[in-house]
Amino acid sequence: EKVDELMQSTKLQGLTFDDVTLVTQYADFLPEETSIKSKFSRNIGLNIPFVSAAMDTVTGPSMAIAIARLGGIGVIHKNMDIALHAEAVKKVKLHSNGLIQDPVSFQESQTVEELLNYKDEKRLPFSGFPIVDANGRVAGILTAKDLKFCNDSRLKLKDVMTSSILTANEGTTLEDAYKIMIDKKIGKLPLLCENGSLAGLYSFHDVNALITGTSKLENLDSKYQLRCAAAISPYDFGRAEALINAGVDAIVIDTAHGHSKGVIETVKELKAGMGSSVDVIAGNVGTAVGAKALADAGADAVKVGIGPGSICTTRVVCGVGVPQITAVYEASRAVPSDVPIIADGGIKQSGDVPKAITSGASSVMMGGLLAATEESPGEKIMMQGRRFVVYRGMGSLEAMKSGKGSRERYSQGDVEDSSQLIPQGVEGRVPYRGTAGSVLHQFAGSLKFSLGYCGAKTVPELQQKGILYRVTPSGLREAHPHDIQMVKDAPNYRTV
Ligand code: XMP
Repeated sequence: EKVDELMQSTKLQGLTFDDVTLVTQYADFLPEETSIKSKFSRNIGLNIPFVSAAMDTVTGPSMAIAIARLGGIGVIHKNMDIALHAEAVKKVKLHSNGLIQDPVSFQESQTVEELLNYKDEKRLPFSGFPIVDANGRVAGILTAKDLKFCNDSRLKLKDVMTSSILTANEGTTLEDAYKIMIDKKIGKLPLLCENGSLAGLYSFHDVNALITGTSKLENLDSKYQLRCAAAISPYDFGRAEALINAGVDAIVIDTAHGHSKGVIETVKELKAGMGSSVDVIAGNVGTAVGAKALADAGADAVKVGIGPGSICTTRVVCGVGVPQITAVYEASRAVPSDVPIIADGGIKQSGDVPKAITSGASSVMMGGLLAATEESPGEKIMMQGRRFVVYRGMGSLEAMKSGKGSRERYSQGDVEDSSQLIPQGVEGRVPYRGTAGSVLHQFAGSLKFSLGYCGAKTVPELQQKGILYRVTPSGLREAHPHDIQMVKDAPNYRTV
């Protein structure tokens, strides 16, 4: 109600993150007792409410793997051809399903010394190597125990390995592998093709972690594969089909103006046909009617953000956009409660996340903050002794020149002459921030404290009862460190 009051009093004035602050409320629990689980879309959950942006300097397979392992989800960008895009999705889906697709193996004629040298050189942290014969058929496994009791490293592997081993057929599922390994008390289970060659390897350590939930933060589908989303343009049905065949969990129709015929028709067609097996997310919108139109068309989540992004120039170049807190609030009130809102763009500090949630978002999509990390595809550069990462808007001239997917986001897919492009974004660099894990650790931890301050134990509870106050320019000045010369960046507070 308080948020409704604030929004009514500022009708037709857009508010954004720095215009509001959250107000404390009574809590009878500690921050560590809170849960930050949330929803990405109708059927896809999140263990942390963070999504990586569909941008070519943010989300390729490495970022999608990293963020799903941390409990969020990545949207693989579409500025590449369809085959590569599908490959990228496969990489994520096959990353941690417990099956090592291409295990390190050795020939039985090699010596123990050769194996140990290779293990040292590549710093392989594990033992348990499949050993193959001259015809490529699996002949045994060299286990840690075999190595322990080997007193002559010149011996051939065939004389040291365990040769009576249990194997299973190619295609054995994680659950079946788990049962076999528990039953027979074995640590490694090689899978064989029909001709006896190696098709993969299950390692009990990984399989056990997945099945028993030791890796419980990871965002996994029902087959214990990492969740992954990918972007398409309106009417991009060929791409959608390839992504679905590759195992994608959600298709994101990624445009700068989602309240448009092309996006609505694409949602309807996907949901009526090939997209019915996956979640379809559409955007971006910045209004209640826009969000409602996409939800009515069948979207499983609506992405909100017209111009809040750190690299966006839409508001300046076109004079169009809605400040993000108001946009999220309006959109979230216009869609059914089972259609989550993704607040896309403009997150500068971790404190922006609970503000987005209080306005009605179920997750936040981040570009610049994740572009800055090790797992982003953005080029890492050194300048004056500091590391930076190249980050560019998908509507920047550089991104639009390098791919059609990016031009299509800004309805300029047919423009071939680059001098005729109208950019709506910029290219620049962001200071390097380490791994996605270290950034999201700060964000997830801060969000748990926000929940504690606001007396809300969960994300839906914060959406329900969070209170926002309007902040004046002096309130904002007071919020930031003041009357001090900062000499050191904190891990979660920087001036740039
Ligand atoms: P942040 O603030 O997280 O924003 O860096 C990322 C989001 O910005 C959007 N985006 C753009 N918007 N011109 C725009 O107007 C662009 O060139 C551009 N590129 C990305 C997008 O929604 C992304 O998730």
